[in-house]
Amino acid sequence: MASENSTGNEPENGGPPLGLDLAQQVALQIELLRMAGVRFLPGDPAKLAGGPPVAQRKTQAVPNPKIPETAPGAFGSLADRVRLQQPAPPAPVNQPPVSLPKPQLVPPARPVAPAPVIEKPAKLPTSSPSPAGLFGLEQVGTPADGLEELDASTRLERLEILRAQVAACKRCPALVAERTQTVFGVGPIDAELCVVGEAPGHNEDKLGEPFVGEAGQLLNKMLAACGIERSKVFICNILRCRPPANRQPQADEAASCNPFLVETLRLVRPKFLCLMGATATRYLLDQPTGIGVLRKRDLAWCGIPVQATYHPAYLLRYPDKKRDAWEDLQRMLTRMGRTPPAHS
Ligand code: URA
Repeated sequence: MASENSTGNEPENGGPPLGLDLAQQVALQIELLRMAGVRFLPGDPAKLAGGPPVAQRKTQAVPNPKIPETAPGAFGSLADRVRLQQPAPPAPVNQPPVSLPKPQLVPPARPVAPAPVIEKPAKLPTSSPSPAGLFGLEQVGTPADGLEELDASTRLERLEILRAQVAACKRCPALVAERTQTVFGVGPIDAELCVVGEAPGHNEDKLGEPFVGEAGQLLNKMLAACGIERSKVFICNILRCRPPANRQPQADEAASCNPFLVETLRLVRPKFLCLMGATATRYLLDQPTGIGVLRKRDLAWCGIPVQATYHPAYLLRYPDKKRDAWEDLQRMLTRMGRTPPAHS
C-alpha cells in the first residue's frame, strides 16, 4: 500500500521503478549487472538496449591500465584490489623542462700568494747604491712583489704566522741559548712609519717588545716631538733575539734574521722607514757608510723612503748629537709631507 508521501511509482520489491520505458529498464538492469561484476564483451549492451553508450555516462569507471583485461573476477583478484587501492603513480605530465637555477658565478677567491715559508735566510742585498744616487734618491733592495694586493686583515694574518715562525726560530744557536723570548716587533699593520733599530736589549728580552728600556723612552720622546704617537708606529729590529751581553749583532745573525725583517716590512708596507743607528743601515741597506754621512741622504729601500739617524742609545751616550738627530727627524717629517714642529 502506498504511503501518504509516496509518489506511487516506487516498486515494492526493489525492482525497476515503474514508469520507465523498456529501453530504460533494460539499461538500468545492465548497469546493475555491470556493477555486480558481470562483464559484457564485446560491444556495448546498453546500446543494444537503446540507452546512451556506457562511455558517455558520468559514472563510468576509468579502467586501470594495471589490471589486465583477463583479470579474474569483476574487481580483479585480491592482489588487484590491493593494487587498486594504492594510489597510481602520477602520470607523466608534459611540462616544460624545469629550468635549473643557473650556477652562481662566484668570483674566484683572489689569488693570494701562499704564506711564506722561510726555510733558509734570503741573501742580503749586495748591490750598492748607484753613484748617480749618491746625493739623490738611492734605491736599495728589491721591489715588493704582489703583497700590495693583500688586504690589511690578510696581511695581519700573515704577520701572525710570521710571528710564530720567529718564535720557533733556532737559526742562531748562540742567541737561542741566551734569549728569554724572541722580540718580533710591535705596531699596527697599516703603520705609516716603521722604525728599525738594532736588537733587543735586556728589558726587551724580558718583556718581548722592542724599545721598552731607556733607549725606548728616548725614542718615545723623539716621536712625540715629531707629533707622532708610538702606538701608530711599527717598531722592530735587525735581530729578533737579544745578543748575549748586548753585544753588536754579527753579520751571520743579521743575515739569518733578515728574511723576517724583510717579510715584516713587506706585510706592514710602511710609507716611510726610519733606520736608527749604523747596525740598521748596514744590514738593511747593506751600507757600510756611517750614520754621520747616510743621515744626510735621501735613501730608499724597496721604493720606501728611508731616513737614517742616530740610535737613541747612542744619543744617551752622546747627548750633543741630539740636535743632529732632531734635524734628521725634521727632514723625515718634511719628506713624509708633514709640517715639522718648530722646536723639539
Ligand atoms: N735597542 C734597539 O736597537 N732595539 C731595541 O729594541 C732596544 C734597544
